[in-house]
Amino acid sequence: MDIKRDQLLLYRSVVVELGAGTGFCGIYAAALGSRRVLITDLPDCVPLMARNVALNRHLVADKVVVAEFDWCQTNGTDQRFFTVPIDAIDYILVSDCLYYEQSVQQLYNTIEWLSSKGASVLLSYEDREDKQPLIDQFFTLIADKFTATEIQSHDLHPDYRSPDLHLFVLKQTV
Ligand SMILES: C[S@@+](CC[C@H](N)C(=O)[O-])C[C@H]1O[C@@H](n2cnc3c(N)ncnc32)[C@H](O)[C@@H]1O
Repeated sequence: MDIKRDQLLLYRSVVVELGAGTGFCGIYAAALGSRRVLITDLPDCVPLMARNVALNRHLVADKVVVAEFDWCQTNGTDQRFFTVPIDAIDYILVSDCLYYEQSVQQLYNTIEWLSSKGASVLLSYEDREDKQPLIDQFFTLIADKFTATEIQSHDLHPDYRSPDLHLFVLKQTV
């Protein structure tokens, strides 16, 4: 996305990232001006995320916190893992997580729960033929409660956009 516009969007925002992997998206959000970022993934990923946060301390100061969070535990909604109150969250980042058939429902439950107080969800995925049924399933799950707006290619950064990459903003309507 456009960096200047994103800095304005993210300025002083509170962000939670799900299935963060390396933590790149959350760390980048903090570098662009978010004031508090919680990056989460399964326990195995916590050391890598922590290392990446430490390596980028000069960019993000102490704004990024790392936590383990499994969508499948307690059906995706477990306040214990969240050091951020749900009504304070501005953005939820979900990058390339429409990937696992066994947990798409729990991922949806988590997103629905965390965005119930007004947070916007920035959801991205890559086209993969074998994952299309899963992507369709996810969009069926969100259909009743969310609006989904795809960010058009011309609004994405020219160096990073690609026809097989999609970025949606999801927002709860009810
Ligand atoms: C394809 S990777 C994407 C990683 C990162 N978001 C990115 O864009 O590079 C999917 C991530 O989801 C995480 N994941 C899978 N199942 C999960 C679950 N039940 N709860 C939390 N995270 C999960 C994996 O550990 C992995 O880091």
